[in-house]
Amino acid sequence: MINSTYDEVYGRWRDAPEGFWAEMAEAIHWYKKWDRVLDASRPPFYRWFTGGMVNSCYNALDRHVEHGRGNQSVLIYDSPVTGKIKAFSYRELLDEVARFAGVLVRQGLQKGDRVILYMPMMPEAVIAMLACARVGVIHSVVFGGFAAHELASRINDAQPKLIISASCGIEVDRVVPYKPLLDKGIEIASVKPERCIILQRPEEKASMIAGRDLDWSELMAEAKPVDCVPVAATDPLYILYTSGTTGMPKGIVRDNGGHLVALMWSMKNIYGVEPGEVFWTASDVGWVVGHSYIVYAPLFNGNTTILYEGKPVGTPDPGAFWRVISQHGVRVLFTAPTAFRAIKREDPTGDYMRKYDLSCFRTLFLAGERCDPDTLLWAEKQLGVPVIDHWWQTETGWPIGANCVGLGMLPVKPGSCTKPVPGYDVRALSDDGQELSGGQIGNIVIQLPLPPGCLPTLWNNDEAFQKSYLSHYSGYYLTADAGYKDDDGYLWIMSRTDDIINVAGHRLSTGAMEEVLASHPDVAECAVLGIADAIKGEIPLGLIVLKAGVRRPHDEIVTEVVQMVRERIGPVASFKVASVVKRLPKTRSGKILRGTVKKIADGVDYRVPLTIDDPAILDEIAADLAVLGYPGSLSKKPA
Ligand code: COA
Ligand code: AMP
Repeated sequence: MINSTYDEVYGRWRDAPEGFWAEMAEAIHWYKKWDRVLDASRPPFYRWFTGGMVNSCYNALDRHVEHGRGNQSVLIYDSPVTGKIKAFSYRELLDEVARFAGVLVRQGLQKGDRVILYMPMMPEAVIAMLACARVGVIHSVVFGGFAAHELASRINDAQPKLIISASCGIEVDRVVPYKPLLDKGIEIASVKPERCIILQRPEEKASMIAGRDLDWSELMAEAKPVDCVPVAATDPLYILYTSGTTGMPKGIVRDNGGHLVALMWSMKNIYGVEPGEVFWTASDVGWVVGHSYIVYAPLFNGNTTILYEGKPVGTPDPGAFWRVISQHGVRVLFTAPTAFRAIKREDPTGDYMRKYDLSCFRTLFLAGERCDPDTLLWAEKQLGVPVIDHWWQTETGWPIGANCVGLGMLPVKPGSCTKPVPGYDVRALSDDGQELSGGQIGNIVIQLPLPPGCLPTLWNNDEAFQKSYLSHYSGYYLTADAGYKDDDGYLWIMSRTDDIINVAGHRLSTGAMEEVLASHPDVAECAVLGIADAIKGEIPLGLIVLKAGVRRPHDEIVTEVVQMVRERIGPVASFKVASVVKRLPKTRSGKILRGTVKKIADGVDYRVPLTIDDPAILDEIAADLAVLGYPGSLSKKPA
């Protein structure tokens, strides 16, 4: 017996989308209500709640303190890598944020200015984000696992007046100094910030550049709190860069009003979380998942959020997540499937899990990559709670497809993210734009307008926004995911249609890695593709063809290109495997046969494509991959 109002709510949204969102917007504090719910005067660009005035920080903190949540914990910093646990009440966090906002104002920052944050998972990262929101400054967080070049490309695009960073991050037991990366990033960038604010951590003292670098603690010691600045609902709250198909990441813009409304709605209706409950997203503030569900949504909804500086395994063992859940009374956990694969590998029988009282725990949500049914079923069996795979993208900022637990759960089909969330009309289209049904795989698109909370455009680049997302099918947003809808209306999101790969839930561009490989002096040609990995889902594999006459040992060149990707993109790329090949496998028209190589590496049945220019090269690659430990040519089928 299914007891879900999903169909009814979805229908209500579809019949009157503007009325639906206007009603949901009542849950937010507005300084001034909107003139129009949806401004559709400039299609394909749509804006939500035009004329409205809000403040995201006010909705995250001040409002709750004013309404009696001042003493409730808002943020619990749990850091197994430093041995620290610290809880902040709503009142305490508000005080810190208001004072850091005072620091920003004192540094001359004004509404619309940009600030880059390059921070580890520390409370100060959240404080800085909310302080920016408080005074209408646009933050752009850069994930700590990205290297200096990636930071530089974001500095050039966002043109920040200020960068906020810390002396180091801590990766399990390894201190990662951030300051040298920051200094190098600024040195490479063509745009220079006026100031940097550095949080000195006891694990590593950063050297400061006189006249440019300021000390977080010194500034905070003399800071004066400032109030929230009302901003337009359509003003940007943040820019978050995400991998595109080239080396240059895309600057996803998030507005204030639509984001507030959508995230607030999602907490109750998708995640089924009531104000006052503890909600934990085990991700990083550098990713969209962290922006939306570590920082903003739980705070909009009056929850307690956990900021966890650690890993699912190794800090100190595969019981780490269960310790956090039982110690802090977590009701709902959201993480990536890769974290569960890592736990499952080290604790297949769930012994660590059973050491803790998990009676408080209600639901597990997974996203960032498709959850393979094995992992989902294992988690469900061990935990004895519903495990919900849900699908979204940096661009949308909140789930597109989910089992909306707050509306009453629908039956789970492992491998499917369930159904489109109210607000999203999702379809599968053939290459020539025909709608596909009955399980036929196609390009997954969303009918315009996208709901509140989704990107209105790319930072300073309406043209690229249109070209990347809106030009393929008129009236639709292209997700760049391939998949299908089954006869029950369930969505199955299977793979990307571009050259993005998903490594441990992190979205990476193989094009960007190819650019790095191609810049090696001995490399004539190269290709990077994603191959299956038991823990990370996918990892990149590089194929490199050397320039004529290069006689150096292949291992040496491979070591160099691996190091180059680590230095230019960052350790997060997990680029560790490359093979020197005589030629790249191509079709007669010159297209690299990435899909076939992937199948060879993954040990999946493949056919030698009829269009291949030189079939022998596949055997050579298969032999090379077999040496590297990949299945090789076992499954080759005749053309
Ligand atoms: N700063 C500096 N380096 C970082 C970093 C950071 N913030 N985050 C990751 N790295 C480094 C890691 O130390 C690692 O370096 P190494 O190659 O020297 O070992 C590399 O980047 C890859 O990191 P990661 O992908 O995290 O792999 P891992 O092997 O350290 O851990 C998992 C594997 C599965 C445990 C880990 O990926 C994980 O917990 N993932 C959770 C998923 C997640 O948060 N996804 C976000 C989207 S929801
Ligand atoms: P990101 O922008 O980093 O959040 O990555 C978004 C991409 O990750 C999507 O376009 C999908 O390719 C993939 N993805 C995220 N969650 C899921 C999921 N639950 N199922 C399938 N793919 C997913």
